[in-house]
Amino acid sequence: MKPMRIFYAALIFIFGIIASSCDTIIVNADEDTKTVAICFPNTTPSWQRNGDALKKLLEEENFVVDMKFSDTVEKQQADVEEVIKHRPKCIVIGAIDSAAFVDTLKPAKDLKIPVIAFDRIIFNTDAVSYYASFDNDSIGDGMGEYFEAALNLKSGEGPYNIELFAGGDSDNNAHIFFNNTMKILEPYFNSGQLVCKSGQKTFADACVADWNSENARPRIKELLTKYYAEDTLNVVLSPNDEIAGVILEEFAAAGKPFPIISGLDGDPKAFERIRQGQQTFTISKDPDVLTAKCVRMIKAVVEGTQPDINDVSTYDNGVIVVPAYLCTPMIIDKTNVDMVKNQ
Ligand code: BGC
Repeated sequence: MKPMRIFYAALIFIFGIIASSCDTIIVNADEDTKTVAICFPNTTPSWQRNGDALKKLLEEENFVVDMKFSDTVEKQQADVEEVIKHRPKCIVIGAIDSAAFVDTLKPAKDLKIPVIAFDRIIFNTDAVSYYASFDNDSIGDGMGEYFEAALNLKSGEGPYNIELFAGGDSDNNAHIFFNNTMKILEPYFNSGQLVCKSGQKTFADACVADWNSENARPRIKELLTKYYAEDTLNVVLSPNDEIAGVILEEFAAAGKPFPIISGLDGDPKAFERIRQGQQTFTISKDPDVLTAKCVRMIKAVVEGTQPDINDVSTYDNGVIVVPAYLCTPMIIDKTNVDMVKNQ
């Protein structure tokens, strides 16, 4: 071999050693460190609040946090693939699309990395170890029951005009919330106490793509001009606070009296709107409550012990029934808004 070729071959050999030892260093470092990967959407401020709260608590427990926020399903799948390569002790996922992780999570299962589904269940995979969330059924029920009481529907009052909004189609929670609320409201549609003048009553009619509140704007504008130019829209089912904010902006822009309207999350802006008499209520999902439960779950799986769970039957993901801890949400309206802290 000519001297120059020997020089290049030696260089390639040395780089090869450095590259392979770098790989080893990454894996070894993570083996010694208690790294937890968090892959969340950045679609609404509530995810940012939950992510920040979780990170803070984990760092207080001496975990190293590898935090990823993403706004598309593809980016989130890439995030999860990336974090798996670094072999964290646990991966916490707030899924943008509940059904998009079947293949992505196979390597996590092979490497025995525990996966916790946060707030949203993950479907069709046995790679999910646990689910930490709020009681989603009770959120949907809570919205229906609040309307039922506020409108005195049980005493036969009405008719009231109502329009319906639901969350994003690819999120299982959105379906639970809407179906549970509708189960409670359906008898009142049948009795004529609730009237949906647009006739847009199915989930497909009502859903707001990707939970993106701006996607609700054109529809509420159109509903107000087309069906309520001369009439009052008394009630609006809004699946969360962000969307309620946009709906109320359009009521204000159209010069319409604010409706009885729901919300979800306990967004500080929603508390403010409740104080000002604009939003009727929100169902608060205190990030401190859920993240504290989730951190206990993470510690248990990392230490190889049994985490605290309170539900072993509700969340059949199509392959396994995922053991869950479901926290209790809280209804906040003008009667108790001053007792809550701004989250
Ligand atoms: C959560 C809601 C949240 C929504 C949009 C749902 O899965 O349960 O709390 O407002 O996603 O991020």
